[in-house]
Amino acid sequence: MNAPATFKLLGLPGSIRKKSVSRAVLRTLRDALPAGVSMTIHELADVPLYNEDLEGDKPAAARALHDAVVACDGVVVMSPEYNHGMSGVLKNAIDWVSRPGYNSVLKDKPVMILTTSESPLGGARAQADLHKMFLSTLSRVAPGREVTIGGTGKAVVDGRLVDEALLKRILALLDSLLNEICLVQGRERRHAGGG
Ligand SMILES: Cc1cc2nc3c(=O)[nH]c(=O)nc-3n(C[C@H](O)[C@H](O)[C@H](O)COP(=O)(O)O)c2cc1C
Repeated sequence: MNAPATFKLLGLPGSIRKKSVSRAVLRTLRDALPAGVSMTIHELADVPLYNEDLEGDKPAAARALHDAVVACDGVVVMSPEYNHGMSGVLKNAIDWVSRPGYNSVLKDKPVMILTTSESPLGGARAQADLHKMFLSTLSRVAPGREVTIGGTGKAVVDGRLVDEALLKRILALLDSLLNEICLVQGRERRHAGGG
């Protein structure tokens, strides 16, 4: 009998504040993952500002991030919208793992994008930013119905995403991410639908 497929995901919260909705959503998703799928949430608070002079000898936190991206099958980014764009925290982190250009550890890496904002748009503009950025890193953004979480305060209570319909949509997009991983890695997987 074949061993069940396993998928190792890396969750990157684009916010480092204690009560972050982005982190809460990633934690809720982590606890709702289907069998065989795991996710490590990698905090970005210690990642220093990007400095190209340090490419040859990266700071420890940037190296740890690099190694985590290498070790995972797919990345789940969850960014708040800041001033109509993605968060600087996440952009800075991605810059550290984006070199050499067009041939970094993000090349062909399957990525799932989630965003949140105070407004009902749910970070749609941050989402557009992320798509543009991952186009430049030649990453494989999971196709499917976009998940934008607006009016953030309402969907998260006591650090958990409580909107079941929203979680279902996130899991549908996750299914697309798993399929993308299988496509990239030449693994077989029956499409469970969604997206
Ligand atoms: C610096 C800053 C800029 C923001 N800009 C926007 C914005 O342009 N549009 C919006 O709807 N919400 C904006 N917000 C609200 C955040 O998107 C919202 O609070 C989100 O929940 C923060 O994510 P977090 O809970 O993961 O920290 C901004 C918040 C901050 C701190």
